[in-house]
Amino acid sequence: MSETATPTAEVAGPNETLLRYRPGQRYIHLLVASSFTVLFLTGLPLIFEPLSFLAAGGYSRIIHRIAAVGFMAVPFLYFIVDREGAKELIVESFQYDRDDRRWLLHMGRYFLGQSEGMPPQGRLNAGQKLHHAAVLILGAGVVFSGLVLWIWSGQLTDVQLSWAALVHNISMLGLVLLLIGHIYFTVVYKAINAMHTGYVPRADAAHEHAKWVAEMDALKAREPRVDPVPGAAEPPGEGRS
Ligand code: HEM
Repeated sequence: MSETATPTAEVAGPNETLLRYRPGQRYIHLLVASSFTVLFLTGLPLIFEPLSFLAAGGYSRIIHRIAAVGFMAVPFLYFIVDREGAKELIVESFQYDRDDRRWLLHMGRYFLGQSEGMPPQGRLNAGQKLHHAAVLILGAGVVFSGLVLWIWSGQLTDVQLSWAALVHNISMLGLVLLLIGHIYFTVVYKAINAMHTGYVPRADAAHEHAKWVAEMDALKAREPRVDPVPGAAEPPGEGRS
C-alpha cells in the first residue's frame, strides 16, 4: 500500500520514486499517531477498573488532556501547513467511483496480501478511503464528546454525561480497531517507508495506484519545459536591461 501527496508538478524523486507525502503531512501524521497512542494509554486507566491504580495521583488525566490538545490541533495544523493536502484527504475519502466499488468487492484478497489483479486505484485505494473517512467521523466523535466531558461536565445531568461518555468510548473503540487494521496493512504492504521518507517506488505505485500514476504523468507532461540555460531563449539583441 503506498500513499500520496496532492498531484502537483513535484513528481519525481531519486531512483524513480514518486512523492507521496510532503514533510508537513508526515509530521502531522506523526502527531496523530503519537497523540492518539498517548490518549489510548492514558484513557484506559480512566475507564478500566483493574488499571485504575495507574491513574492514581491524577497524572494520567493531565497527560490525557495534554495529548487531547495535540490531537485536536491536527486539523488546524493540517490546514495551515498543507491546505490542499487536507482538502484532498477529506474530499477523496468520501468519493468512490466504479473501480473503488469493484475493489471493495475483492477486498478479501487484498486483505490477505494479494494485490495482483485488483481494479486500478487512484491516489487512495478504496480501503484507505474507507479507513480515512471512518477516522474523520470517529475522530470528530471522540473530540466533541471529549470536549463536552472536559468543559461542560459541571453543567450536565448524569444522563447527559453518560451519553457523552458512551459516544467518547465507542468512538475510541472504533479508532483503536481501525488502528489495528491500519498497522496490519502497513506491515503486510511494507508501507512504513512511504510515511518515513515521503517517497514510494514508482513501480509499486504503478501496481497499486495506477490511476494516480497516470494522473501524475499527465500533469508532468503538461508542465512548461524549463530552459536549463538562463537567457538562452531570449531573442537576439534583447538582453537584460
Ligand atoms: C501508531 C502507528 C501508526 C502507523 C505505524 C501508521 C502508519 C501509516 C502509514 C505507513 C501510512 C501511509 C500508508 C501508505 O502509504 O500506504 C499512514 C497514513 C495515514 N494514517 Fe497512519 N499510522 C499510525 C497511526 C495512525 C493513527 C492513530 C491514525 C488516525 C487516528 C492514522 C491515520 C492515517 C491517515 C489519515 C493516513 C493518510 C494520511 C494523509 O493522506 O495525509 N494513522 N499511516
